Amino acid sequence: MSASREQFGSRLGFILAAAGSAVGIGNLVGFPVAAAKNGGGAFLFIYAVFVIFICLPVMMAEISIGRHTQHAPMNAFRSLSYGHRGWTFAGFLSLITPYMIAVFYTVITVWLFGYLWEAATGGLANLADPNYFGAFINSNDVFLHLIAVEAIVFFILFSGVKGGIERGAKIMMPTLFVMLIALVLFVLTLDNAFAGVRYYFVPDFSKINSSVINTALSQAFFSLSLGMGIMITYGSYMQRDDDLPSSAKFVAATDTLVAFIAGLLIMPAIFSFNPDTNTADLSDSSVGLIFTFLPKIFLAMQTSIGYVGASLVASLFFLLVFFAAITSLVSITEVPNSALMGSAKYSRTRSLSIIGASMLVFTVLCVFSFGRIEGLTQFMTYAGVNKSFFDVIIDVFYDTILPLNGLLACLLVLTHWKRTNFHRELERGSPNYRNSWLEKYVDFSLRTFIPAILLIIFINTVALKYFGVSLIG
Ligand code: PFF
Repeated sequence: MSASREQFGSRLGFILAAAGSAVGIGNLVGFPVAAAKNGGGAFLFIYAVFVIFICLPVMMAEISIGRHTQHAPMNAFRSLSYGHRGWTFAGFLSLITPYMIAVFYTVITVWLFGYLWEAATGGLANLADPNYFGAFINSNDVFLHLIAVEAIVFFILFSGVKGGIERGAKIMMPTLFVMLIALVLFVLTLDNAFAGVRYYFVPDFSKINSSVINTALSQAFFSLSLGMGIMITYGSYMQRDDDLPSSAKFVAATDTLVAFIAGLLIMPAIFSFNPDTNTADLSDSSVGLIFTFLPKIFLAMQTSIGYVGASLVASLFFLLVFFAAITSLVSITEVPNSALMGSAKYSRTRSLSIIGASMLVFTVLCVFSFGRIEGLTQFMTYAGVNKSFFDVIIDVFYDTILPLNGLLACLLVLTHWKRTNFHRELERGSPNYRNSWLEKYVDFSLRTFIPAILLIIFINTVALKYFGVSLIG
């Protein structure tokens, strides 16, 4: 245990940084559309149940592993398992996962920055052109935007845990919340806005089937930044006497609240554009929605608020999503950085330079995989679908491995660390946690149904993604 390990300056600092990680593109766009397509209020209800009863205990496990060991994932796993080989491999998985997620998330953040730039400089009409996105992602402008995004992310990270990550979150998170509320208030004044609100809230339980349940749980898991090593790493920076269970509750609540509120922005906007929208026709992909669908909606607003007004709304929206993406990107890049600093005993500057340079190589490979280089564009084929290098990274690291990593964290607690030690860590700084209902629940759920559910989701995703068979609907 190193005495000089960096720390967040306060409990609020930890909460804002962890919530900054959790609030991302998934909350602002992925969640509202998943809810609208899958039963509205019924989906919201199931999602909230999953956050509270399944994700919260996993989040508490991950944060406490970090705080107890004072290490980033790989060394944390090694230390709790006393160097057992199998667990070192599990630790490696929760290191390579954030590394690769950071690569593809950088690409999406770069696109967001490009759209923000275009909207803010008068080019909203271009963004609404259906051919724009395809041309943009293969243009050389992407490299300029890439430099800008890397400069922002690494500037924050070079400034350290307290001076960079915490300070960045303290500025960006409240700003994000204000922008979100301002946009919601604005879209609610549009014609037909309430048709969207109705669609979002009115429960339709007939839409709930096993695949919707799978979607809701995966969405919740991913939205809370679980299985990515982030909560372990941020936990290792948390002060030893902070109240961990309440902090975890706050982070989960903030993330869920932002997702719920984002629905009040996206759904009314979609319905005011087309009151007869059939949500089944909306794209499943957040990327498709953000970059091709929503710009059309913003442009259509010019009939009521003029081109400048519409450009302002679009710019505010892209800035909102950009801030959410930056705080997530910072958190995920910090995982491999923290691991390298810890195991090689490198300075922050040296470690970040190595991580940054190596990630850049993969990021550029992704940028070339949208048609510029054949071998990267047609990288692999599985379940009958051709996949680019970028797609493969998303499928493997984002869509498949997260529940497995969450499962491994739970198993590590159960088999090596042991539940009593785990609860002792949670009780530090939180005397009320001892013998509480929450403690009993966390204990019971982690040794019974949570690992089972995570295993089922993992197996089903593998069957579906790579073999085209759905085992649970
Ligand atoms: N919780 C994030 C979201 O909802 O978008 C997930 C995430 C993605 C976190 C990418 C970090 C990250 F780099």
